Amino acid sequence: MERTLSIVKPDGVQKNLIGEVIRRFENAGLRIVALKMLRLTKDMARGFYIVHKDKPFYDSLTDFMSSGPVVVMVVEGEGAISKVREIMGATNPRNAAPGTIRHDFASDVEHNIVHGSDSPQSAGFEIGYFFSDIEIHER
Ligand code: RTP
Ligand code: MG
Repeated sequence: MERTLSIVKPDGVQKNLIGEVIRRFENAGLRIVALKMLRLTKDMARGFYIVHKDKPFYDSLTDFMSSGPVVVMVVEGEGAISKVREIMGATNPRNAAPGTIRHDFASDVEHNIVHGSDSPQSAGFEIGYFFSDIEIHER
């Protein structure tokens, strides 16, 4: 069993897509084992996306991620990391395959509705960033 961290970003919450994102994960056989809603501070967003600190979009991305409430969740299942990324679609919705969340709902490369960890290493870091062990539930 693999675990990954997913976030319904501020645009996804604003567009009333919390349930839609969770539904797509559950329909793929994945399980939500931890979940909460919170508003990131700018510093929390900076820390979360620290791997992108030297990218030109870092400041804009962290402004966006701290612009409103998000829903963070731990998603569990076989191949959860790659399954979640498949369901999300490509970063830029213009390149995202039909039927993916980003194709269906994202407005541009930054405002793309959903986040998913990209490797076991980042999943470990990102899950620990938001959840303690007692907040993650065996299913
Ligand atoms: P994420 O980390 O949010 O799951 O997205 P990702 O792996 O598909 O994309 P990544 O390269 O990690 O970029 C993180 C987020 O930064 C914003 N972004 N903006 N303006 C731009 O060119 C640009 N590129 C990326 C997006 O919100 C992207 O999801
Ligand atoms: Mg990424």
